[in-house]
Amino acid sequence: MRHSLSRRNFLGRAAIGLASTALPAIGWGQPAGQNPLRIPSLLAGEVRSGVKHYDLTMQQGMSEFFPDVGTPTLGLNGAYLGPTLKLNNNDRVSLHVRNSITETATLHWHGLHVPAKADGGPAQVIAPNTVWDADFTVMQRGGTFWYHAHTMGQTGSQVYRGLSGLIELEDDETTQPGLPSEYGVDDIPVIIQDKRFNRDGSLAYIGMHRDIMAGFSGNTLLVNGTLNPYFAATSRRVRLRLLNASNARTYNLSFRDNRSFEVIGSGGSLLATPESMMNIVLAPAERADIIVDLANGQNASLISSALPSDSPFLSRGMMRNMQAMSGEDFDVLTLRPQAGANDSPELPRQLTTISRILESEAIRTRRFELGMVMGMGMMGGRGGGRGMNASTPFSINGQSMAMDVINETVQVDSTELWEIVNDTMMMHPFHVHHGQFQILDRNGRPPHPEEMAYKDTVKVGPGETVRFIMRFTDFSDPDTAYMYHCHILEHEDNGMMGQFVVV
Ligand code: C2O
Ligand code: CU
Ligand code: CU
Repeated sequence: MRHSLSRRNFLGRAAIGLASTALPAIGWGQPAGQNPLRIPSLLAGEVRSGVKHYDLTMQQGMSEFFPDVGTPTLGLNGAYLGPTLKLNNNDRVSLHVRNSITETATLHWHGLHVPAKADGGPAQVIAPNTVWDADFTVMQRGGTFWYHAHTMGQTGSQVYRGLSGLIELEDDETTQPGLPSEYGVDDIPVIIQDKRFNRDGSLAYIGMHRDIMAGFSGNTLLVNGTLNPYFAATSRRVRLRLLNASNARTYNLSFRDNRSFEVIGSGGSLLATPESMMNIVLAPAERADIIVDLANGQNASLISSALPSDSPFLSRGMMRNMQAMSGEDFDVLTLRPQAGANDSPELPRQLTTISRILESEAIRTRRFELGMVMGMGMMGGRGGGRGMNASTPFSINGQSMAMDVINETVQVDSTELWEIVNDTMMMHPFHVHHGQFQILDRNGRPPHPEEMAYKDTVKVGPGETVRFIMRFTDFSDPDTAYMYHCHILEHEDNGMMGQFVVV
């Protein structure tokens, strides 16, 4: 590794032409030495007459990711990212979101089961200098969720600049004895994002066509906004709340020494039993709760490496060339066990019960074909139909997202089977608002073990058809829609999204 990147040699390198437009780059510009992992503050709400109130303010700020280099960013209650929201099942909550930035924005609670009006999708616009309130009762299993901007056409740009944060939703099972649950001590948020920086330290966003087609990938990794982070662990077992909050990059996470870890949560819920794994693949918006055992006293370095050559999620054909540096290795986070660390109890063998929703409960099947148009023409799906034009190269069932079009109508309290068909050359992480689903199968084969719980986002590889089953309970509103979309934010912003109402 190299010397620390002071402003002086930072500019020096640029001046002597060692730097390309993306500066600094992983592998040479990354400062030597590690930085303590930033832990976002915890916002647990203030109880007033039986309701928990949370105040979030979107703001502009200046962040110092590199020593002495200022980067203009967006954040909530801070310069970059937002606090971790702690919610409990059955809480009545009121989230007050103030927009103190100079652009229109929205704030969406990704994975939460809430009324459409409280969802924070593209229709719940928050104009500058106004406040939007989301009121709801938490009615779901504990898990790891997140919140982020969801502004029509601007989601990628706003999330990239920092408008997102983690949500830890607890219930009796997520806090059961044996599961590390002390925030910032043995229960650690790990928000993974990739960035590109301009010479002046500002964030670089979409610069060329392929940043939209393949989705925007950076060359520098941040965890909770920290470059090259380490965490000093004072307990034998540590729970990591992994969140891929990147715009487009998929991570294949493992430990450098190939140690195994226990996956205990899929984001939407706990897994029924801990699942021992050596690596886990997280697409944008996917989460996983894992337990790392540090008993051997050695540093545990979490890394991201290229997908194996037989991965069903690898891009094909010309898309493979378009995905800049998707095969690059990154250091993500080093866990450093401290001398005299506290012992931790054994993990419970049974975490929760997941009863599988039966296919026979579905009253109907809906089919969603993902489509993208490349420069030369169709790359799959039924793109080119209504609503398609050159400025919206992405579609679902041939239609690009339009605010005034409701694409689907679902009956309240019904169970439906959704079939996502991907005939394009790349993987798309498909996400549905309103609640959680169970994956039935992927090209007829059972889902991966870490997917055998509740999820709201699922990887659909090129050439794959994924089927999931979902209950649309509790809320109906003929006038306010929920979204379904690809969670590669440049795809979402450019048409790969649709709207449904529950009536
Ligand atoms: Cu993570 Cu429609 O959102
Ligand atoms: Cu969502
Ligand atoms: Cu996509």
